[in-house]
Amino acid sequence: MKIFIDTADLDEIREIASWGIVDGVTTNPTLVKKSGRSFNEIIEEIFEIVDGPISLEVISEKADDMVKEAKGLVSKVNQKYRKNVAIKVPMTPEGLKATKKLKKEGIKINVTLVFSANQALLAAKAGATFVSPFIGRLDDIGQEGMQIVEEIAEIFTNYDIETEVIVASIRHPIHVIEAARLGADIATIPPGIIRKMAKHSLTDIGIKSFLKDWEKVKK
Ligand code: G3P
Repeated sequence: MKIFIDTADLDEIREIASWGIVDGVTTNPTLVKKSGRSFNEIIEEIFEIVDGPISLEVISEKADDMVKEAKGLVSKVNQKYRKNVAIKVPMTPEGLKATKKLKKEGIKINVTLVFSANQALLAAKAGATFVSPFIGRLDDIGQEGMQIVEEIAEIFTNYDIETEVIVASIRHPIHVIEAARLGADIATIPPGIIRKMAKHSLTDIGIKSFLKDWEKVKK
C-alpha cells in the first residue's frame, strides 16, 4: 500500500519523507490554513520534497470554473514537477463534469469527499485517477467508514477499474491496518498518526536495555 501524507505542514512533510516512506501528499484548504502559511508559499516546496502525486484542491463549484482553477494551479507548479499534480475536485455532478474535462487534458484527478461506493463508481466512470473515501467522517456519524472501502475495492476488482482508492480522513493507526488488509491502493495519513505507527513501547524499552547492557560490556 502506498502512503501519502495528509498535511500541508512543510516541516512534517520534510521530516517524514526523510524516513523513505512517503509516496505522495494530499492537501486541502483546511490543511493549508492549519499550516499557518499561504498556499502560494508552500506549493513550490512540497513538489521539491516529494516525488509523487501531490493533491491540490479546487474550491469552485461549477465545472468550467473548476477546470479553469485547476489549470491555474498546474501553471503555478514548476514545469518539471507538473506530472505529479493531482487536482482534487468534489464529488458532485459538476465535479464529475470537471473530471471528464481534466482527464482529456491529461491532468490527474482526485475525486474527494466520497462517502459511498456509488459515488466512487461514478467518479471512476468519469475518469478519476484517484477516489478518496473519507472514512473517519463516516465513523463520526455512526456509519462504519471502512465498509465503503471494502465495497469500492470489490467493485473496482470486479470491473478491472484502474482508478486508485485513497483511504482518507484516517483518525488512528487501526484505520491504516484495516485499509491495508482490504487492499486499498493508498492511505493518506496525518503526520501524527504516521508517528504513532512507527512507535512501540517495547521498541523503546528494548533500546534502553541494550544501551544499559552495552555500558557494562563495552570495555
Ligand atoms: O484527506 C482528507 C482528510 O484531510 C480529511 O480528514 O480528519 O478532516 O476528516 P478529516
